[in-house]
Amino acid sequence: MKIGKTYNFSTHGDHRGTLVAVDKYSGLPFELRRIYYIFGTEKTSSRGHHAHKELHQLAICLSGSCTMVLDNGFERESILIDSPHVGIDLPPMLWHEMHDFSDDCILLVLASDYFNEGDYIRDYQEFKNFINI
Ligand code: TYD
Repeated sequence: MKIGKTYNFSTHGDHRGTLVAVDKYSGLPFELRRIYYIFGTEKTSSRGHHAHKELHQLAICLSGSCTMVLDNGFERESILIDSPHVGIDLPPMLWHEMHDFSDDCILLVLASDYFNEGDYIRDYQEFKNFINI
């Protein structure tokens, strides 16, 4: 894995199942301000297709799986995410797309700031211009 950095969350597991707790001491690479989650996505749909100027996020696939495509402007990488205790780092200025959602996919995203449409770069050429390529 070259572009995608992962975070492993500690699990508390026993015969009843597994629990993961996330708080400010969990080693997140940013201070948490918002969470959102995506579910009910059709197999043929894809999401994301943007980068953020400042926002830092971590995506965790709580159920099922999807493919995360990461693009730093130089290289593109596809990662299958399917583990509820592994987060994929989505730092600022990393183009990301989500594809191949399984029916049961629930994607949780931890974010460093509140929603701000002005922080999005939704045009790939604009993204390339931003990083001066
Ligand atoms: P969008 O970021 O485009 O979704 P994705 O990147 O998964 O394709 O957001 C979809 C819609 O939801 C859009 O109208 C903005 C809205 N939204 C919020 O209101 N708050 C949020 O925290 C997020 C992430 C999106």
